Amino acid sequence: MGAQRVAEVEAEARQRLAGAADEAALEAWRTAVLGRSGSLTAVLRGLGGLPEDERRAVGAAANTAKAALEAALDARREDLRRAALANVEALDVTLPGRPAPRGRLHPVTQVRRQILDIFARLGFATVEGPEVELDEYNFGRLRIPEHHPARDMWDTFWIDSASSAGASMLLRTHTSPMQIRYIERHAPPIRIAVPGRCYRYEATDATHEWMMQQIELLAVDEGLSMANLKGTLQEFARQMFGPERRVLMRNSYFPFVEPGVELSVDCFACPGNDPACPVCRGSGWIEIMGAGMVHPEIIDAAGYYSTRYTGFAAGMGVERVTMLKYGITDIRAFYSNDPRFLAQF
Ligand code: DAH
Repeated sequence: MGAQRVAEVEAEARQRLAGAADEAALEAWRTAVLGRSGSLTAVLRGLGGLPEDERRAVGAAANTAKAALEAALDARREDLRRAALANVEALDVTLPGRPAPRGRLHPVTQVRRQILDIFARLGFATVEGPEVELDEYNFGRLRIPEHHPARDMWDTFWIDSASSAGASMLLRTHTSPMQIRYIERHAPPIRIAVPGRCYRYEATDATHEWMMQQIELLAVDEGLSMANLKGTLQEFARQMFGPERRVLMRNSYFPFVEPGVELSVDCFACPGNDPACPVCRGSGWIEIMGAGMVHPEIIDAAGYYSTRYTGFAAGMGVERVTMLKYGITDIRAFYSNDPRFLAQF
């Protein structure tokens, strides 16, 4: 036995390795060659019976062969793995795929789009305005001058720095400033719907959030009256809350409209007299927005004659409409980002 024998064992092992086609065959090969009674192990075991100088040479050759065969085993295993992946037939294409979770629109987004769609069909174009607003537009030109008690209706987040022109700025408390921005740049006939986020510096509770979304309506034209306001909003209420809806206007006050009203719809969640109704609480009516006839001074200030043009305006809270529609009782659910709540819509 000599170096010749080592070469024979290695050659034979390599040949058999090339024929091993799966993990079981590889394992059997490893036992037969490198295992305790494997062919190469037998060579190493027989070294003791050799004369000193031969032992050293054969031992070195056998150890080199052992390392080479171990490397060959790893390489063969890797080749087989690659071949299995490349073999498309081995993949079961009939297995059902893993479902990917689908995203969805936030309920307030869905309702905002519905509202804008309804008004679009009634001829109102959607326009948007800035969330950081000048005092002048949020209040002043809406006939709410500084120190006017009506300012108390809107607790305001003020911006620390002034505008480049030195004017004071705030986060808009309502979408009404867009009435002014629009009418000062566009001639009647005007019909717009203005969605947008509004901010109020107030404590949050089940019906108040410091941020909420509104949709403002403005129509200015010749001959518009309260009847047009009522008809428009009645049509909106029917499309939004059901075909039978009736609307009720009650006197209210907002500095930028005269007369101003609060608009309610009859309850769609109960027959109208259920004291346990979570939506109307037995009153039969649900208040959904403020509205009114645009104050003549606002029309005149924009450069049009209030003797010729009249207008109506309204502003509604999108979260409030969403709460009514789905019977949600806490406004804070919308923006606390609990997927268990949001996944229901
Ligand atoms: N801007 C008012 C608010 O946020 C709501 C409102 C009332 C808007 C009457 C109007 C309106 O356009 O005519 O409380």
